[in-house]
Amino acid sequence: MKATARAPSNVALVKYWGKRDRRLNLPATGSISVTLDGLETVTTVAFDRALDADTCTIDGTADPRGARRVLAFLDLVRTRFGVTEHARVRSRNDFPTGAGLASSASGFAALTVAIDAALGLGLSREELSALARRGSGSAARSLIDGFAEMRAGTAEDGSDAFAVALGPPDLCPMDVLAVVTTHQPKAVGSTEGMERTERTSPYYRAWVEQTLADLDAMREALRASDLERVGTIAEENAMRMHAAMLASSPPLLYWNGTTLDVVREVARLRQGGEGAWVTIDAGPQVKVLCAPGRGEHVAARIEAVGGVLAILRSRPGRGAHVVEDAA
Ligand code: DP6
Repeated sequence: MKATARAPSNVALVKYWGKRDRRLNLPATGSISVTLDGLETVTTVAFDRALDADTCTIDGTADPRGARRVLAFLDLVRTRFGVTEHARVRSRNDFPTGAGLASSASGFAALTVAIDAALGLGLSREELSALARRGSGSAARSLIDGFAEMRAGTAEDGSDAFAVALGPPDLCPMDVLAVVTTHQPKAVGSTEGMERTERTSPYYRAWVEQTLADLDAMREALRASDLERVGTIAEENAMRMHAAMLASSPPLLYWNGTTLDVVREVARLRQGGEGAWVTIDAGPQVKVLCAPGRGEHVAARIEAVGGVLAILRSRPGRGAHVVEDAA
């Protein structure tokens, strides 16, 4: 009744921003991501008959916002699998806390895999991915090694909305830098931000349509291991998402001044012949994709940009899995 899992964060190369069903957390479109080596969450789950309520600590403290979503997820699992016991959940992020990178993706992927092992459910990768999606859409992709494609699916019950593998970590080698520009938590969470964009952005429909084309192009670029195309499509797709966000009412502006300075520095690097591209999620941090082995050089240039607080280096890695040591 007790197990531990380790799950990585991931960064979307073609983003998920919009839902077709809120209750089942079904995405409006598919998305494609790279699973990030080293930026991991470790979670231990213990179901215990003696408990009369669930408990949850994240990085040693009872984080009420994160914990509420974890407790709702445990309720869902109990209903779905006929479990009566409550659980003790302990979770820690293996990257600096307060880096603004702690993601619901690695968190819910680790929680899902740990629950499956603790209860001996024996779910398939696809079932695990669909279950993780209920916690957070991006978590569904952290189940997969290397490169993942989240399928939007068409089934009303969401049973075909899960992530599948596009290829192992060496499908398209790259270095990935996570550039930290603030330690503040983001003002508007993804779930709320998506809802606002869907409801008020005149560009939301165009965003959805363009994403379908970007998915096809990205799949092909990855298959060809063409980093220049992968980087170009990823950067353009991220900018399109931010354009749709900006056009919301009230506008969703996730960037700060340093975010923009990093975007400009990467453009300058590119003008100088370096293969480097940015992608940005619903926050002010920047991820930079570059050629394998070039991460150190690119990081040195970005470090010199005023306001950059930290740079974490990663590469394509392994998806969520069970481990022996408790969190
Ligand atoms: C901008 O997965 O955090 O990072 O399903 O509502 O929990 P919920 O949203 P979440 O959204 C991620 C949005 C994104 C793009 C992406 O990762 O695809």
